[in-house]
Amino acid sequence: MNELDQLVAEARAEFGQADAPADLENAKARYLGKAGRLTELLKGLAQLPPDEKKARGAAINVAKQQVEAALTERRQALADAELEQQLKAEALDVSLPGRKRGNAGLHPVTRTMERIEAIFASMGFDVADGPEIEADWFNFTALNTPADHPARSMHDTFYVEGGHLLRTHTSPMQIRHAVQHVKKHRALLDAGQPMPDIRVIAPGRTYRVDSDATHSPMFHQVEGLWVGENVSFKDLKSVYVSFLRAFFETDDMQIRFRPSYFPFTEPSAEIDMMFNSGPLKGRWLEVSGSGQVHPQVIRNMGLDPERYIGFAFGSGIDRLTMLRYGVNDLRLFFDGDLRFLSQFK
Ligand code: DAH
Repeated sequence: MNELDQLVAEARAEFGQADAPADLENAKARYLGKAGRLTELLKGLAQLPPDEKKARGAAINVAKQQVEAALTERRQALADAELEQQLKAEALDVSLPGRKRGNAGLHPVTRTMERIEAIFASMGFDVADGPEIEADWFNFTALNTPADHPARSMHDTFYVEGGHLLRTHTSPMQIRHAVQHVKKHRALLDAGQPMPDIRVIAPGRTYRVDSDATHSPMFHQVEGLWVGENVSFKDLKSVYVSFLRAFFETDDMQIRFRPSYFPFTEPSAEIDMMFNSGPLKGRWLEVSGSGQVHPQVIRNMGLDPERYIGFAFGSGIDRLTMLRYGVNDLRLFFDGDLRFLSQFK
């Protein structure tokens, strides 16, 4: 191997050992820099006799080109390696499943509420909303349940400072809504003219000190009220029967009004239903309290019980939801377990 081939081989070896661009540039300087080996060789040409100069010059240039080619190749290799390194460090695993935004769904009890509202709205009922922190007057006294009334013992609840309480039922909405309605139509009443009927439902949250598989301290009820001059028990019956048929999407059921007692209705009835088919077939199920609004309650609404007569009902929304979807533990509605809730989407 002549000395030029030797030099090219050494340059290749040194470039190959340079692992960083800075090392490579230092190695380059040793061959191609101002005092580099090839530069020195080219300078030396001046001392040669003219007939040798040409061949020697050409040979050195070939060597120089080879060194430059080796340099370019190594530069590229180092740049490739750096890019490779960077890509590895910033790698994304594109095979991971994406994170999708989940589809939300309405809570089964909310679905039932909306369903109840739609059915009663189709029968001409308004939908009213009222406070959950209620005054004693609306929750009890105005509903013919004075302070010493034994019926209060079945409505133990949570008391708030200042004599207010968490409402034990939606029945206080009967008074609240009726009073508003009477106020709105005061002029007609004063002129002895007929007032439009009160026809309203009031769904919402209610509270009692109760907790087991079928009772929750917070639960949901829907109140219904129809007051007018010409309303009768048959109106209550037809409205409620129509509601149950629409709600459960079947006529294949029996419905009975069983005599009962509530302080704010007289007479009072418990509404029971029985499916003639399906998994709940043949069992009487209690779905609502109801009755003719007590004359004292009509008076507390600001109306004359000799002229106005009312019918009311109060139903458990959670219960209706359990029957509709075949859920047997009420607590599932309030645990917030998505495995349960997502079945209703
Ligand atoms: N408020 C009663 C309860 O929670 C249910 C009820 C019974 C409501 C009869 C009514 C009714 O409107 O007429 O036990």
